[in-house]
Amino acid sequence: MHIRVLGAAAGGGYPQWNCNHPNSRRARSKDPAARQRTQSSIAVSADGVDWFLFNASPDLRQQINDNDVLHPKDGLRHSPIKGVVLTNADVDHVAGLLNLRESQPLELYATSRVIQVLQNNTIFNVLNPQFVDRHPIKLDEPVSLKKPDGSDSGIVVVPFAVPGKVALWLEDASKGPDFGSVEEDTIALEVRNAEGQTVFFYIPGCARVPDELADRLRGAPLVFFDGTLWVDDEMIRSNVGVKTGKRMGHMSVSGEDGTIAAFRDLGIDRKIFIHINTTNPILLEDSPERAAVTEAGWEVAYDGMEIRV
Ligand code: MLT
Ligand code: MN
Repeated sequence: MHIRVLGAAAGGGYPQWNCNHPNSRRARSKDPAARQRTQSSIAVSADGVDWFLFNASPDLRQQINDNDVLHPKDGLRHSPIKGVVLTNADVDHVAGLLNLRESQPLELYATSRVIQVLQNNTIFNVLNPQFVDRHPIKLDEPVSLKKPDGSDSGIVVVPFAVPGKVALWLEDASKGPDFGSVEEDTIALEVRNAEGQTVFFYIPGCARVPDELADRLRGAPLVFFDGTLWVDDEMIRSNVGVKTGKRMGHMSVSGEDGTIAAFRDLGIDRKIFIHINTTNPILLEDSPERAAVTEAGWEVAYDGMEIRV
């Protein structure tokens, strides 16, 4: 299986357009230790030829241009992108669908809940339903991703719910502290090859690691995981916002209830943070926080990162 990180940053990207935090300033000044990153998405392929996007970020046009594997190859209209799998309806994960307009055959996979959200928003009809099939995926049921010609991609995904929150733009404050979130709002993907072996997990948004999630991930060969914030009150401490990570549905990297601690004894071969907020010090290659994640056996995803598993 081939994996290409298209974007490693959280919503807003790194640097976020309106952010003047020192982290963002360093990225904007092209500091080599503060590499810019586009918004969260990866591309996955069984054969290195045909690719599926896991989430479609608002930066997708740039991501396609930056990754030659996604360039048109055959004839006057062509794309190696055969489909998209969505893990939630966050703006940073669905807005890129609008870049895939025009009459290009594609397969779109998401939970019924997220498909409904797209259907309720008629702008997403730019993905002409005559060419783009919407496939509702069910929690805990393996799905073999199909190319538009009906053939198997060689990629199987098992979607499962993880703790999280409905997308910010869909929050309903009248529905209580969880804003009306349901299980299908935030999913993770276990990715298997055609032989049924688990190849990796993709979890760009997650609020907690309950025991059943830890059990699922134990011994996995590779996990991409939510690296949004270093500490829960990072945006408040940095004077750039009023929200905590918990309020946004993201657990933090550090601390006793953080990700490094939750993963410490899970025996996972390769652990990679993705969906990293513009304020997170792990983005800086010379920061003590980056040294701490490296020391704990974690990598920090960057745009263009290539993995073969
Ligand atoms: C998130 O991951 O919390 C969202 O992408 C935030 C947002 O929509 O800006
Ligand atoms: Mn996000």
